[in-house]
Amino acid sequence: MNSCAGTCLRYTVTIQDTNETFEVNETQTILDGMAALGRKGIPSGCHGGGCGICKIKVLDGEYQSLPMSRKHITPEDEADKIVLACRIRPCSAIVLQVIGVMKKSVLRRGYTLGAPVEIQHS
Ligand code: FES
Repeated sequence: MNSCAGTCLRYTVTIQDTNETFEVNETQTILDGMAALGRKGIPSGCHGGGCGICKIKVLDGEYQSLPMSRKHITPEDEADKIVLACRIRPCSAIVLQVIGVMKKSVLRRGYTLGAPVEIQHS
C-alpha cells in the first residue's frame, strides 16, 4: 500500500537475469514491483516473509529489511544480501539476481516482458 500520496521516492530495480527493470517506491517491497510487471513467472506467495518463495540476492543497492523467517534466510544469507523480495524496500536503485524457486519460476518461460529470448541448450 502506498502511504505517501505521490511524494515517495522511486527507485529503479533491475533483474539481472532477465534485464528487466521496474520502479518501486520507498513504501513498496521489491516483490510488489516485480508483481506489477504483470507477467507470468513472478511467484506470488505469502508476501509476509514466511514461505521463502521469493528469494533473491541483491547485487547492488541499499534496502531496508523487514523481519523474515529464519527457516528461509539465515544470518549468513542476510550477510551475503540473500533476502526475501517481499521483505525488503529499496533505499536506492537495486540490481538483483533471482535464486531458488524464484529463479526457476522467473526464467522458466525463457522470455522477458513477453518478448522471446534465445534459450541456450547444452
Ligand atoms: S512471498 Fe512468501 S516469503 Fe516472500
